[in-house]
Amino acid sequence: MFVVKIGGSILFDEEDQINEKLITKYAKTIRNMFTESKKRCAIVVGGGKIARKYIASTRRFGADESYNDIMGIEVAKLNARLLISALGELAYSDPPNNISEFTTLFKETDKIIVCGGFRPGQSTNAVAAEIAEATNAEKLFNLTDVAGVYSDDPNKNPEAILLDKMKIDDLIKMISNVRTKAGYYPLFDLKAAQTIKRSKVVLQFINGRNPENLEKAFNEEKIGTIIAC
Ligand code: UTP
Repeated sequence: MFVVKIGGSILFDEEDQINEKLITKYAKTIRNMFTESKKRCAIVVGGGKIARKYIASTRRFGADESYNDIMGIEVAKLNARLLISALGELAYSDPPNNISEFTTLFKETDKIIVCGGFRPGQSTNAVAAEIAEATNAEKLFNLTDVAGVYSDDPNKNPEAILLDKMKIDDLIKMISNVRTKAGYYPLFDLKAAQTIKRSKVVLQFINGRNPENLEKAFNEEKIGTIIAC
């Protein structure tokens, strides 16, 4: 069993249009990988820029952070439906609302379950970590718009290098002082990292702009950053 988290940022192109080409490629890649290997997978889709636009508006209207989170959760579910439709018969028709709905469905159907957000106070990475823990997943592939985890912020430090592996405790240290809010969970969320730590799931950060990278990671080729205990 594998969990694939697709960051909302990669579902949209530079003009903020739905990247149908990329979504189609992902559906094809996932179909090939998981039908050939006969392994199961669950997918979690993020909210991306659209979620942040909605959250910015509700924040300006004076909504509390919990309500802003709900906007993000709903957009992530909407994005999940894009992948559900691209996967066709292979996917279950609706994103579950929480982990217990997910686990019930996971027992009832062999279809790929595609999720968005679950509950306020976290990001979709926490959803992916919860699912990985509940299904005893071999690996959680985190597809983002960066190549992996760097030794320092590459935008500020030109000497920053891409790390091929990292310990979960070091990731936790790296993100524990980062202030988060609805729509803003840079790199990874602390809650997700703690779930990964306690369940000892292997987490791999991969650049998701190219679906072939997921295949490479699945075939254990060296790519991105692997986080292990
Ligand atoms: P994410 O921040 O996880 O989206 O969810 P993302 O697309 O993966 O992020 P990037 O663009 O790749 O970095 C969008 C927002 O939805 C809310 C949070 O406010 C989150 O920032 N959310 C999501 C929740 O409150 N609970 C959830 O379970 C999931």
